[in-house]
Amino acid sequence: MTATLSPLPTQGTPAPKRGSYWITTFGCQMNKADSERMAGILETMGYRAAAGEFEADLVLYNTCTIRDNAEQKVYSYLGRQAQRKRANPHLTLVVAGCVAQQEGESLLRRVPELDLVMGPQHANRLDTLLARVEQGQQVVATEEHHILEDITTARRDSQVCAWVNVIYGCNERCTYCVVPSVRGREQSRLPEAIRLEMEGLAAQGYKEITLLGQNIDAYGRDLPGITPEGRRRHTLTDLLHGVHDVAGIERIRFATSHPRYFTERLIDACADLPKVCEHFHIPFQSGDDEVLRAMARGYTVERYRRIIDRIRERMPDAAISADVIVAFPGETDAQYRRTLALIEAIGFDQVNTAAYSPRPNTPAADWPDQLPEAVKVERLQELNALVERTARERSARYLGRVEEVLVEGVNPKDAAQVMGRTRTNRLTFFAADDGRGGSFRAGDLVKVRINTVRAFSLGGSATPA
Ligand code: SAH
Ligand code: SF4
Ligand code: F3S
Repeated sequence: MTATLSPLPTQGTPAPKRGSYWITTFGCQMNKADSERMAGILETMGYRAAAGEFEADLVLYNTCTIRDNAEQKVYSYLGRQAQRKRANPHLTLVVAGCVAQQEGESLLRRVPELDLVMGPQHANRLDTLLARVEQGQQVVATEEHHILEDITTARRDSQVCAWVNVIYGCNERCTYCVVPSVRGREQSRLPEAIRLEMEGLAAQGYKEITLLGQNIDAYGRDLPGITPEGRRRHTLTDLLHGVHDVAGIERIRFATSHPRYFTERLIDACADLPKVCEHFHIPFQSGDDEVLRAMARGYTVERYRRIIDRIRERMPDAAISADVIVAFPGETDAQYRRTLALIEAIGFDQVNTAAYSPRPNTPAADWPDQLPEAVKVERLQELNALVERTARERSARYLGRVEEVLVEGVNPKDAAQVMGRTRTNRLTFFAADDGRGGSFRAGDLVKVRINTVRAFSLGGSATPA
């Protein structure tokens, strides 16, 4: 459970002027949300945004270790900054996030130029940790920590869509996954704190909220309370009902869902609550029951298919996305083909694909039946082609339809266009000209007639209001 509000030490006194900062974020939405909070803390401390990574006085890498290539990328970035620091000893170098948690002190042996190594549970403590760095210490903060309720103003990238953490950590033990060891035990935020944050965001003009958790269906299992009917008092379904009426917020999404805990009550809530968007991100990881068992996922392909059927019964147009791993240790060609068959059968709108990568402190990494690199590459390529084809087929259904698009900003590749997303999360581009002598702006909800369909995006034109 999260602790109560406590004021930041810097509150009330004007922040001294400090130098410039740069944050590079790797990995998932949790890291993006953490980075936005850390940027907010740095600005409260008196840092200002730097023009580039190599001009900044403080460089923070918020890192990911989900696969080996993600981890290796961090070391190459760090190497360049370490070199820069040898010429400029005033540079402050910070490694935050999941590689920091996984490696801890040993990162200092590898890169002695580092000033601060901090795990994800310490993100909200960045100011306290930097205060110790300013006193000349080299700091490692990776101990298990109760995440304090965050009252800092995050420095958010978007003015329209915001992340709101609802549960930190993960208590699952999927045999391939490093997340539980780097993100720690589940800690749910109190529903009142989540609602308060959403009200604050609505007051700032935000229109869309994505509720975040690594296993968001676990929301509330660590909070006390049982209803008279014998249910847990706090579930994701109850949370959705509890925050749905925040005025000004037009759309609510949530991620990531776990098929083991995805309930009918939740599906009903999504269908009944108009602001909850018809898009579900429910990773299935494999289309074979034996592989799912070896992964310790706790569901069967049959259960997964029943969830999707039920979603489509209640919300026929719902978009479904997922994550999948190929070449898990021991995966036979026949088992891999069942994953392809499931993708074909479901018709996913989008699938994040990966070849299995052995991770430290995970059981599957020690199993003898690891597959050769060539098999990984071959399966991944074939899989990606299939994913693109099904996405294209799913996109085709939008042709000629009118979709509600929430404008997020200007198309970076064409200033005459704006871009946004449909409720089903398809990226959509259309002319910025609103036909009344002005331009559509971030935050506008526009009805767009779709006239171009691509695998992962759409194009169209605004219909007259
Ligand atoms: N909590 C989410 C996923 C978090 S990690 C869930 O339970 O589904 C994001 C994705 O990375 C996973 O869904 C999985 O597909 C992939 N992944 C995790 N560990 C991996 C590994 N060791 N090798 C390859 N892909 C992995
Ligand atoms: Fe990893 Fe499994 Fe937790 Fe997802 S549910 S973060 S895959 S351990
Ligand atoms: Fe990566 Fe950590 Fe997210 S390992 S995927 S940044 S939880």
